[in-house]
Amino acid sequence: MNTCFLKIVPALLFMTGCAGNGGSTDNNLPPYQNESLPLEERIEDALSRMTLEEKVAMLHAQSKFSSAGVPRLGIPEIWCTDGPHGIRPEVLWDEWNQAGWTNDSCTAFPALTCLAATWNPEMSALFGKSIGEEARYREKDVLLGPGVNIYRTPLNGRNFEYMGEDPYLSSRMVVPYIQQVQKNGVAACVKHFALNNQETNRQSVDVVVDDRALHEIYLPAFKAAVEQGGVWAVMGSYNKYKGQHCCHNQYLLNDILKRDWGFDGVVISDWGGVHDTKQAVENGLDMEFGSWTNGLTWGASNAYDNYYLAHPYLEMLKRGEADQATLDDKVRRVLRLNFRTAMNTHKPFGSLNSPEHLAAARRIAGEGMVLLKNDGKVLPLDPTAAKRLLVVGENAVRMMTVGGGSSSLKVRHECTPLEGILTAVGPECEVSFERGYVSDATDTYDGVKTGQDLSETRSAERLIADAVQAARSADAVIFIGGLNKNWGQDCESTDRASYGLPYGQDRVIEALAEVNPHLAVVLVSGNAVAMPWIDRVPAVLEAWFSGSETGNALADVLFGRVNPSGKLPFTFPVRLEENAAHAMGEFPGGDTVHYNEGIFVGYRWHDAKAIRPLFAFGHGLSYTTFEIGNVKADRTSLTANGTLRVTADVTNTGDRAGAEVVQLYIGDAESTLPRPVKELKGFEKVMLEPGQTRTVEFTVTPEALSYYDDTKHAWTAEPGRFTAYVGAASDDIRGQVDFTLE
Ligand code: BGC
Repeated sequence: MNTCFLKIVPALLFMTGCAGNGGSTDNNLPPYQNESLPLEERIEDALSRMTLEEKVAMLHAQSKFSSAGVPRLGIPEIWCTDGPHGIRPEVLWDEWNQAGWTNDSCTAFPALTCLAATWNPEMSALFGKSIGEEARYREKDVLLGPGVNIYRTPLNGRNFEYMGEDPYLSSRMVVPYIQQVQKNGVAACVKHFALNNQETNRQSVDVVVDDRALHEIYLPAFKAAVEQGGVWAVMGSYNKYKGQHCCHNQYLLNDILKRDWGFDGVVISDWGGVHDTKQAVENGLDMEFGSWTNGLTWGASNAYDNYYLAHPYLEMLKRGEADQATLDDKVRRVLRLNFRTAMNTHKPFGSLNSPEHLAAARRIAGEGMVLLKNDGKVLPLDPTAAKRLLVVGENAVRMMTVGGGSSSLKVRHECTPLEGILTAVGPECEVSFERGYVSDATDTYDGVKTGQDLSETRSAERLIADAVQAARSADAVIFIGGLNKNWGQDCESTDRASYGLPYGQDRVIEALAEVNPHLAVVLVSGNAVAMPWIDRVPAVLEAWFSGSETGNALADVLFGRVNPSGKLPFTFPVRLEENAAHAMGEFPGGDTVHYNEGIFVGYRWHDAKAIRPLFAFGHGLSYTTFEIGNVKADRTSLTANGTLRVTADVTNTGDRAGAEVVQLYIGDAESTLPRPVKELKGFEKVMLEPGQTRTVEFTVTPEALSYYDDTKHAWTAEPGRFTAYVGAASDDIRGQVDFTLE
């Protein structure tokens, strides 16, 4: 049953029945309630009926996650929820702690790094559809996600919530997510706009970045979200840019987002990201959430009166210090959001924890896992040959959906890796488990408890000795470790302290490798990690934080029921110093952080400096093999308005069905400004039966050849020679073809 009774049901819904019962086209209704009229007409009608106080009341929170509507007019409240991997459990009105509902357990979908690693926009659409349905069922109007901040350094604690290091990949992947969420009458709120690439000093750090890097690297996914995805809300970030906090930033919000990109939706502050009324009013913010709420001086019943966009704004308006047009622009935007979501009576009811959602979570997780290394001797596991299977590592048994900050979830069901493996094997296979190491495990986040008791009394030495002992007699050993969602790991509000695996895991892996050559390492993480043992381990799989169906999806891949087809959405450097932000830029900086590396982020840096990564952007193996060849272009030159077709043949040369992601990179041979050796400009995931060949076709336009000219403040495609590279990874180019732009 749906739960409309649990919220203050606005007058409009009483008149039209519960949401989902059909639209309001009654001619006796006031125009703003008549859904057959154009949206803008309804907005103007509603606006004309509102008092000054009612207008201001719409622009700030009334609880942790909701804002007031206009009760007198039957305009409902707006309810937000995190985001971005599942629907956050209900919290108390004014606290982060749990409301204690028993019907708010959700499906956890894989983390966005995993989604990006599918390199499959269809998976994005499935993710968006599924999470949108869960948001609807929980009667949310705004989903606080997806996040598309660029992966600048492996130390950023929030990378797992984002879509990797490449602007083209994240742009392609973010659009279907948004579109499908919004089909549910739920706004996506793409975050954190912009330059929020670290957690250290996140509330104060001023990011110094050149215009080229801003436009070529850090903004494109947001731009795609607005221009192609049609996103209805954008969340400002905590950090500063050009000395102004990004939640009220003239340059980012008014000039770029609203003026240049024509964004017609709502700019929502990050929770506690607003610092000044005048700036919030003038510099593009529309709705304020999460500011301090302990100032009860304005009214004991509603501390939210004290928000920057509450009484202080009202007073400014009354004194004539703030203009009506700016206020009305904000209110129009909030009304637009309201009509698109809360007041939309055509939206579906949604569903929570449906079998379809669990299946979607499992499918996306399986498709996102990346086989980093495989000599074919361990993976895929053959339970008839590997009869004694040893699983080692805390992440095999640890729930990962609780923790990590605002994306922490309360799930109906979470299948851990060990459970997934146990479910997958038949009686002929004996599975045993050894802990191997112990983290600083916590079992609670914001009052949500995993219910797991992971306490351990054995010493670190003993744990290793026990694991080694068990490994000696095992036919195969699967080590499942990586990071977790604790502070200092993959977790909001902190960055990682170091690039290496924590809790002494390297020692455990080395010790296991010494006694058993049939070792596969599975990493559960949202970030790259150092692998000093890589030469001694025959198989490595990046499994990400994969949500409710982690264990089943992992078992699918380990036992070969799903042939891995994920590709890395970011580079794994050998050493941290080989990452551009650490080699040349600054991290974490202090009051300011200088992105001295400019546009040379991720593989762009590795290419420019010829630094071989541990695993390259776009890398990912399969249990079959593919050949990519016959790379051709249909012409040798391209005109300013023309297109060029690049084709390549891809063949499955192995003995099982599988999917390959064919990647197109473009390099600019002659340019006035420095350019990366090559940049991703196209990709296609192709499913192939053994022996099957398909031709992949990419259309190249001058737009794909252009760079942001910071002297002209415009994108420019400069005539000259270019190369189209086609391959299976950024470091695995199989063919190339030259052409010119006239
Ligand atoms: C996070 C946002 C989140 C918000 C609401 C903030 O701390 O940065 O990503 O949506 O809290 O929970």
